Amino acid sequence: MTLPSTVSALYPQHVVELQRRTALALERGGFDHLVVPSGTLHYHVFDDRDYPYAVNPQFKAWLPLTKAPGSWLVVTPGQKPKLIFLQPFDYWHVVPSAPSGYWVEHFDIVVIRRPEEALQHLPANVARCAILGEPQSTLDQYVPNNPVAVVNYLEYHRAYKTPYEIAMMREATRRGVRAHRAAERAFRAGASEFGIHLVYCQAAGQDLAELPYNNIIALNEHSAVLHYTERDVVPPRQVRSFLIDAGASHHGYACDITRTYALDAGQEFQAMIDAVDAAQLRMCDQVRAGVDYKQIHVDAHLALAGILWNFGVIKVSPETALATGVSSAFFPHGIGHGIGLQVHEVAGFAASDEGGTIAKPDGHPYLRLTRELEPGMVVTIEPGIYFIDMLLDEVKKNGHGDSINWARVDAFKPFGGIRIEDDVVCTEAAPLNLTREGFAEVA
Ligand code: GLY
Ligand code: MN
Ligand code: MN
Repeated sequence: MTLPSTVSALYPQHVVELQRRTALALERGGFDHLVVPSGTLHYHVFDDRDYPYAVNPQFKAWLPLTKAPGSWLVVTPGQKPKLIFLQPFDYWHVVPSAPSGYWVEHFDIVVIRRPEEALQHLPANVARCAILGEPQSTLDQYVPNNPVAVVNYLEYHRAYKTPYEIAMMREATRRGVRAHRAAERAFRAGASEFGIHLVYCQAAGQDLAELPYNNIIALNEHSAVLHYTERDVVPPRQVRSFLIDAGASHHGYACDITRTYALDAGQEFQAMIDAVDAAQLRMCDQVRAGVDYKQIHVDAHLALAGILWNFGVIKVSPETALATGVSSAFFPHGIGHGIGLQVHEVAGFAASDEGGTIAKPDGHPYLRLTRELEPGMVVTIEPGIYFIDMLLDEVKKNGHGDSINWARVDAFKPFGGIRIEDDVVCTEAAPLNLTREGFAEVA
């Protein structure tokens, strides 16, 4: 178990690793400095309302600062990284507090009071700068140029988490698990989707501004909508099932967790949840160095089709279900994705740190990760079985209606669907399941 006090011990190594990667990335691109604006507030069109601020991921990769718009990071190989920290004179908003904590000693920090003061502290020769950011962060001649060679290198290597990053994700998971437990209790007590959402946010101590993605809180048939983010304020008359896909963040790192519950443990739907759960654990065990993530996805189709066959939902073998697209009607998304600073981590298809793409398997357009697994990667494993009218209609149209026992589909449809999702670290040996570890800790 990583105690918070070890974070200060892990962080220096994280910074050293980022400096190493940055030197190589700059060499690739032919630049002398990496310059990263933290980002700015964005506003609604024709309005003075701002959106929740989202920090530039290239910035939070270095610093546990997720609420410091208008700041800049400058990294020059061979020098201590520099943080130009905006602490405006402002009585309308909460101003970022003065830099403090385990990270400050690793940076030369200059505090500025107005955004344009950053100009005095940025490298003089802008032509030598790789500036990573969005156009809105432009300051005078410092226009984000996002050189492809630099971005490709950094994003490719971001897949390999440092021990500090794993510790951050573990903390995010603790927070998420606590909130999942509270949400389950609210579900069993009869709360509405909206009510469960509020309980979740309260227990996580986070709302949409900090959560790594919008909560999916679905009762009954709503679980069949993959990204269901409506929230009924009134509970259904008869509650049967609950699918919750909700995360939390810690210092800019995400967790991504899904659980599915049946209200009545005696229902056949509970048995199907248990079967998916057992299969999901076997899939998590496949997260090992040298394994092709695409293979986990294809194997998941066979495993899930096997469950559908066991429950009498399909009448063909798993192999046939996969070949005819029938399994995709019940499992229409990818088995998962990389996760870290972003819930859907970048460079999932990158063939190398110089670019190139590893194609998705034919017929599987929604897979988000096609790379071979290596130690340090963190991925989600999130198999699901859903009863989605639109996709089942497609099966009929494609002439495979006979593969399905429609009476069994009708029996399961009122429960919507099942998804179980964990965040799993690939190591040199057995995988480390952060999510299961988190649930075990609070059990
Ligand atoms: N929560 C979004 C996903 O599971 O990918
Ligand atoms: Mn996910
Ligand atoms: Mn999820």
